[in-house]
Amino acid sequence: MHSFRIACTVKWQVNAFILVVLIDATICQIRYSVPEEMRKGSFVGNVAEDLGIDAKRLKSGGARIVISDSSEYIRLDVDKGNLVVGERIDREQLCGQTSPCSLNLEMIMTNPIQLHSVVVEVLDVNDNAPAFQEKEMHLEILESALPGTEILQVSATDPDVGINALHGYTIHPKTHFNIKVSSSPNGHKYAQLYLSEPLDREKEGKLLLTLTAVDGGEPQRSGTLKIHITVRDTNDNAPVFMQSIFKASVKENVPRGTLVVRFSATDADEGINGHVTYHFNRMSGNFAELFRLDENTGDLTVTGIIDYEENKLYEIGVQAKDQGGQSTSTNVIIEVIDVNDNPPLITLTSFSNAIAEDSSSGTTVAIINVKDLDSGKNGKVDCSVNSNIPFAIHSSLKNYYTLVTNGVLDRERNPVYNITFSAVDEGSPPLSTNKTITLRIADVNDNAPIFEHSYYEASVMENNSPGLSVFSVKARDSDSGQNARVSYLLIDTELNGSPISTYISVNAESGVIQALRSFDYE
Ligand SMILES: *[C@@H]1O[C@H](CO)[C@@H](O)[C@H](O)[C@H]1NC(C)=O
Repeated sequence: MHSFRIACTVKWQVNAFILVVLIDATICQIRYSVPEEMRKGSFVGNVAEDLGIDAKRLKSGGARIVISDSSEYIRLDVDKGNLVVGERIDREQLCGQTSPCSLNLEMIMTNPIQLHSVVVEVLDVNDNAPAFQEKEMHLEILESALPGTEILQVSATDPDVGINALHGYTIHPKTHFNIKVSSSPNGHKYAQLYLSEPLDREKEGKLLLTLTAVDGGEPQRSGTLKIHITVRDTNDNAPVFMQSIFKASVKENVPRGTLVVRFSATDADEGINGHVTYHFNRMSGNFAELFRLDENTGDLTVTGIIDYEENKLYEIGVQAKDQGGQSTSTNVIIEVIDVNDNPPLITLTSFSNAIAEDSSSGTTVAIINVKDLDSGKNGKVDCSVNSNIPFAIHSSLKNYYTLVTNGVLDRERNPVYNITFSAVDEGSPPLSTNKTITLRIADVNDNAPIFEHSYYEASVMENNSPGLSVFSVKARDSDSGQNARVSYLLIDTELNGSPISTYISVNAESGVIQALRSFDYE
C-alpha cells in the first residue's frame, strides 16, 4: 500500500459553511456541515467536485456511502456527485447535549478501491423550546415570611445546544416575588424564586406567577411554569368591632332571655385566627347576675331583674378575642327604660289626731308627702281627698300636700272623719295608693244643757216626812266631757212669802227634788 496526497482546496459552499477537504493517498477526509431537520434531498456537499473525482468515475466505481450505524441520514446522488439529506436528522436525538455533533461516513468506490472519509457535522437549529418538568405547581407560603426568603429552586431544560440552549428566566408579575438566576457546577442555569415584598393574606390570599424560561435562539423560544401560591394565614389581625360604641336600651322588668344587644366583630384572619368569641371585659358590680353574654353569638341577654329604680344606666366593657391571642374591646351603654311599676307612696309627715270643732276654715289638719319611685309621667302624681267632707288639700311644696278644713265642723254631728287621700300617677296604666286617716273633732262647749221636759208636774201627799224625794229632773248636754256635765240649781223664787229653797231642794248631781218640810194640804 502506498499513499499520495492531493492538495485540497477551500471553497465557499452555497449555504456558506466552511468546507475543508483533506485528501490522503487512500483516505481523504472531507468535512461538511448541515443544519438538522433539513428536508429530505437537501444538498449537503458536492463530494465529486470537492474530491476532484469525475462524476463518471463515481458511477463506474459504484460509489456508495456507508454510515457506521447503517442509518440513511446522508445519501449519495451518484449522477451529480452530491451528498444529500437521506432522512430527517434530529441533532438532539443523535447527539443529545454533545456538541459538535458529527456523522462519520465513508464513501467507497471500486475499480480501483478508494475509500474516502466524510464527516458531516449536524448543526443545531433552535427547534426546541425550554420546558419545565411540570406546567403548573402549587406552593404555600406563610404571610409572615420575610422578604429575601427563598421559596423555590426550579429549572427548565432545552435540548438544544449553544446559543439555542437555555438562556435565562423571567418572572411575572414582580409585585411580591423575584428571581435570581444561577448556574449549577455543570453550567445548567436555574432560577431561585424569593420573596421580595411582604405578603398580606388578607389583601391577597392567592397569587399566580408565571416563570418563563427563554433560550438564546433566533427567534427566541420559551417555556412557562405557572406557580400558584397560597398565602397561609398568620394571626396578624385583631378582631374589629363593627361599631366603636354600642348603645342599647332595655325596659325594666323584662323577662329573662330578652336580647339587649348583639355584638359583632370581624377578624380578617382565617381559621382559628379569625374565630371571634365575646367576653365581659371588666365586671364591676352585679353585671354577671343581670346579663349574660353568649361567647359565640355575641348576644347580650337579660338574666336577672333589671330595676330602673336601682340603676338607670349600665356601661359594660366587652372584649372580642380571636383564638390566636389577639383581642379588642368595646363598651355598651345600656339605658334602662322606666316602666310604671311603682305605686305612689303617701307618708303622713304631720298630723294632730284631733281638731277643735270651732276651728276656723283653712286650719291645717295634716301634711302629707307623696312620692313615686318611677320617673317621668310614671312618677308624676296627683293627690286628692274624698269629697263630701269639710276638708280640702292644697299642694304646697313639691310632693307635699296640706290638708285643711274648708267648712263648719260640729263635733255633735260629726265627731269623727275618715279622710282618705288618694294618689294616682300618670303612668299607663296608672297606679294609685289610698291612705285613710281618722280625725277626731274635739269638743267645744257650744251647747247648753236642755231639760228633757220644759215643764214638770208632780203631786205629793200632805203630812209627808221631810226629805221625801218628790221627783227628779233631767237635763242633757250634747257636748262631751266636762262640757256635758250638768249640775242642777234652784232658781231662787218665793212661795207664800218664803224662799222656795225652804220648801224643796234639788240634788245638784242627780236632779232629784226633795221636800224639805211636811206639806199641809190645808
Ligand atoms: C271610719 O272608719 C272606721 C274603720 O273603718 C269605721 O269603723 C268608722 O265607722 C268610720 N267612721 C266614719 C264616720 O265613717
